[in-house]
Amino acid sequence: MFDVHLHKVGLAYGDLQVFQQLDLSLKAGQWTCLLGGSGVGKTTLLRMVAGLVDQSDIRVEGRVTCDDGQPLAGRIAWMSQQDSLLPWATVLDNITIGERLRTRKFLRRSRLSSEALDRAHHMLELVGLDEKARVLPQNLSGGQRQRVALARTLFEDRPVVLMDEPFGALDAITRLNLQDMACDLLAGKTVMLITHDPLEALRLGHAVYHLRGHPAQLTDAITPPGKIPRSLDNAELMTLQGVLLDRLRHEESVA
Ligand SMILES: Nc1ncnc2c1ncn2[C@@H]1O[C@H](COP(=O)(O)OP(=O)(O)O)[C@@H](O)[C@H]1O
Ligand SMILES: [Mg+2]
Repeated sequence: MFDVHLHKVGLAYGDLQVFQQLDLSLKAGQWTCLLGGSGVGKTTLLRMVAGLVDQSDIRVEGRVTCDDGQPLAGRIAWMSQQDSLLPWATVLDNITIGERLRTRKFLRRSRLSSEALDRAHHMLELVGLDEKARVLPQNLSGGQRQRVALARTLFEDRPVVLMDEPFGALDAITRLNLQDMACDLLAGKTVMLITHDPLEALRLGHAVYHLRGHPAQLTDAITPPGKIPRSLDNAELMTLQGVLLDRLRHEESVA
């Protein structure tokens, strides 16, 4: 396992300096949560960690390194709010899309190895959807679709998982259930989770940062006590939620 370090990273779209001189460490095997209002630069920062921002009209500064000395590229899985499931592909085909692209087995008649198929079914079992393997995404609920997206992330089996508001579109109860499931199934992975929900950050984060301002800065980390996913009857969690909600609300009103 390895820590990921962001050193003095900055990014500007033309004249818009989204953030600059940011330092952040993602600790191996832990959840680092990033909170912040809409438009502050959360997705941009996550894309920067993923190495997805090299267009020529963007100025990028700083470095992203891993403390085992190896590059981060190729060791990341990504999960976003838009589940990005291909509408014309079955659940099973969606889960194995990465494998199909890598092995050029994209055509219907070309078969994945039985090992890959077994693994895909196993991931579906883990998220409780094995009976939906042959179903198209349009026939699933929002929560089920995000469970498929989680299974696809698990199938990729990368040590670092970047999540951009993965549960943001779900109702409160489904969201809590998926948080628990993700916490269980991603144990041991290094996770960076973007969210605008303080409670989500506080339930799941070993470290919780708040990105705010223009250009955006990171506040000091909050490190809530106890094992994740933290229970809702934790009084300290509720107090911290109030503090963070207040901060976010203030930020919106001055924006
Ligand atoms: N490709 C882009 N080109 C120009 N501006 C962008 C681009 N992507 C995002 N932005 C701008 O950068 C800022 C941060 O966006 P984003 O990272 O998506 O915010 P968040 O995820 O926190 O809501 C916003 O002002 C947004 O309009
Ligand atoms: Mg975003």
